Amino acid sequence: MLRRPRRNRKSAAIRSLVEETRLSLSDFIFPLFLIDGINQKVPVHSMPGIYRYSLDLMLEEIDSCLKLGINAFDIFPAYPEEKKDRFATESYREDTFYLNALRTIKQTFPEACIMTDVAMDPYNSDGHDGLVENGRILNDETLEILGKMTLAQARAGADIIGPSDMMDGRVGYLRKILDENGYKEVSIMSYTAKYASAFYNPFRDALDSAPKSGDKKTYQMDPANSREALIEAQLDLEEGADFLMVKPALAYLDIIQLLHQRFPLPIAAYNVSGEYAMIKASAANGWLDGERAMLESLLSIKRAGAKIILTYFAKEVAQIGL
Ligand code: PBG
Repeated sequence: MLRRPRRNRKSAAIRSLVEETRLSLSDFIFPLFLIDGINQKVPVHSMPGIYRYSLDLMLEEIDSCLKLGINAFDIFPAYPEEKKDRFATESYREDTFYLNALRTIKQTFPEACIMTDVAMDPYNSDGHDGLVENGRILNDETLEILGKMTLAQARAGADIIGPSDMMDGRVGYLRKILDENGYKEVSIMSYTAKYASAFYNPFRDALDSAPKSGDKKTYQMDPANSREALIEAQLDLEEGADFLMVKPALAYLDIIQLLHQRFPLPIAAYNVSGEYAMIKASAANGWLDGERAMLESLLSIKRAGAKIILTYFAKEVAQIGL
């Protein structure tokens, strides 16, 4: 036997020499949920360890994450039902608790990278990412609303905006609006291949943002398909996206790899709420070693080709240390 692959696994020192992929804290973006009020820290039941914070406590949370080496945050607002309307007006009204909080966060931690989500669902009484009319999701009319939302977030200090709505043409539309208004340096991380997935439910619990009727299948992608991810990625590249994102991550490692091989932009993957909940639930039952399952799944996402990972595990990994 001339070829004995086990020789390269015989000691920890040799294994680390041949190790191809290594996680780093600088790969992570930590999603955080913001609520109005003071001194609020409300658990998300389907996501043990994850909370909705009021601004004062979120500042403390961000501070402790920065000290641990997490430098990028994606901040989602949870709005009460009475603030929502069909046109997601609250998403671009000046002086909302969310936009004010972004300003404060950015002023307090200018070195942190702050990302925001561009889609109507947290502000929409219909719970959809776009404008609903007679049960249909209107594309071009939604773009106008997303444009106003994007500008409001850029004004509040967002470093990266993340269009998660899956409307056609939005990356180019938002890039143009940002540029015309002097925000040439605001980046776009496009949710390029966002699938109509069962794995978003805990997130929708966190924000109370589930669709009131129907589903998101006319805009989010069909889990059966990989080839249309190539069309979405090509359009995002042409329309000026700075990063391409695949979402969810674990059930879509093939899509991450596909985009990584075909496109020169950095690839991000969103390790979504349901993926977090699965590991937490089985660890709580003693069925999995939660820490090992967490690190193995994050490593797999990186090995598939994602340089950037949005994950609710970010702080926990930083606490353990890499
Ligand atoms: C909103 C949005 C969703 C997520 C991120 N942005 C939910 C959805 O599309 O229904 C999901 C994140 C997660 O599950 O962790 N457009």
